[in-house]
Amino acid sequence: MIKLIDLPKILDDRGNLSVIQEETNIPFKIHRVYWIYDVPGGEFRGSHALKETEEFIVAVSGSFDVILNDGKQERKISLNRSYFGLYVPKMTWRTLDNFSTNSLALVIASRTFSEDDYIRDFETFLNSVR
Ligand code: TYD
Repeated sequence: MIKLIDLPKILDDRGNLSVIQEETNIPFKIHRVYWIYDVPGGEFRGSHALKETEEFIVAVSGSFDVILNDGKQERKISLNRSYFGLYVPKMTWRTLDNFSTNSLALVIASRTFSEDDYIRDFETFLNSVR
């Protein structure tokens, strides 16, 4: 199930700290971490679904929107804080857009990269979930 997850936030006069531990704050083991940055104004990322990979997305800096579609309904979630993130289950169509200047999208994935895991055509996605 798509869900926003609050992360631990350790407040300190020296600066704050948040943390993600596998199988504690997120419901999977971490196999890969990547990040999206230097996104030009007006650009979008994603627009695909992953067959087996679960992901957790955090706006470590700045803000952006994630548009999610599970084949039944579409939701838009704005990420704009580094102390919560979005759990994206497998077989969820996602698009990231509306990136602010200098935003940094951190993505934690449950599997190593494989192009075979991608569905990049929306009609194919809809046919597979229905
Ligand atoms: P893609 O997942 O399509 O980007 P987006 O986040 O916008 O959906 O990946 C873009 C390119 O980067 C594609 O050629 C595959 C490559 N890539 C890797 O090599 N390893 C990775 O872990 C990821 C996420 C992408």
